[in-house]
Amino acid sequence: MNFQTILTSLENKIYTITINRVDKLNALNKMVMEELNSAIDEVYDNDEIRSAIITGAGQKAFVAGADITEFLGLSHGEGMDLAKIGQDIFFKIEDCPKPIVAAVNGFALGGGCELAMACHFRLASENAKFGQPEVNLGLIPGYGGTQRLVHLIGKGRALEMLMSASMIDAPTALQYGLVNYVVTQEELLNKTKSILEVINAKAPIAVAKCIHCANVAAQPVSEAGGVRNGFVEEINSFGDCFRTEDMKEGVAAFLEKRKPNFKGK
Ligand code: COA
Repeated sequence: MNFQTILTSLENKIYTITINRVDKLNALNKMVMEELNSAIDEVYDNDEIRSAIITGAGQKAFVAGADITEFLGLSHGEGMDLAKIGQDIFFKIEDCPKPIVAAVNGFALGGGCELAMACHFRLASENAKFGQPEVNLGLIPGYGGTQRLVHLIGKGRALEMLMSASMIDAPTALQYGLVNYVVTQEELLNKTKSILEVINAKAPIAVAKCIHCANVAAQPVSEAGGVRNGFVEEINSFGDCFRTEDMKEGVAAFLEKRKPNFKGK
């Protein structure tokens, strides 16, 4: 497949998807999301693929969030649409019957943290940092972050991260259970591949059933075929933020590289 914003490779039945916008810290713009969606379709459809890795290009970032420049001028409804599209792609990752693992090689912020959390599990390099900094922009996570973060690390820790926009480092992410391993950046892909090689030798249908049952256990995070109330609430709340002056101020402040002045309006 011919992609412009992601790189893909297939080796030993492991498909590696690398988000590749290094100069923008691999921020998820519309094209990245479309291409990521196609790459995930490939994981579903290609019998040569037994499992997949999602990682970021370069040494600094896994993904530094949704592309903030695309938030400018969005209406309430367009904000909701953006969240819905992102959630649907991330559900496709979470519901994939083949293991998809995040190799977090640097900043995993906003949509980047949400992308990592939609994967079946995560490994991090020592320099990785996780955060949901949307409140800095007058926003909240819209790609499932309010739901999966609570589920993965618990409500108290999640709310501290969501409300303070503070980042956590890799050892803290390990302590919180957000990642399974922390290794050096050089070791990250090899360690991830070695785990997937073990899984790839197991019975594929049984592996798929493990994913399905774990997703059901995580209800309402991934209630197969059912209503995902928390996720719907997130879309509505994300959309509501687009009606606020604070959100326009927050995005403008990021783009102008200054501190926002929020007024609660
Ligand atoms: N969307 C769009 N562009 C982004 C981005 C994002 N989420 N994150 C980083 N970039 C861009 C920067 O604007 C900058 O572009 P420029 O060189 O054209 O000015 C480039 O990537 C490098 O980022 P920079 O901020 O200069 O790097 P830094 O090392 O000083 O800071 C971060 C790194 C991750 C702390 C900082 O980029 C940041 O806070 N990013 C936004 C994180 C965020 O709020 N994500 C949630 C979005 S919903």
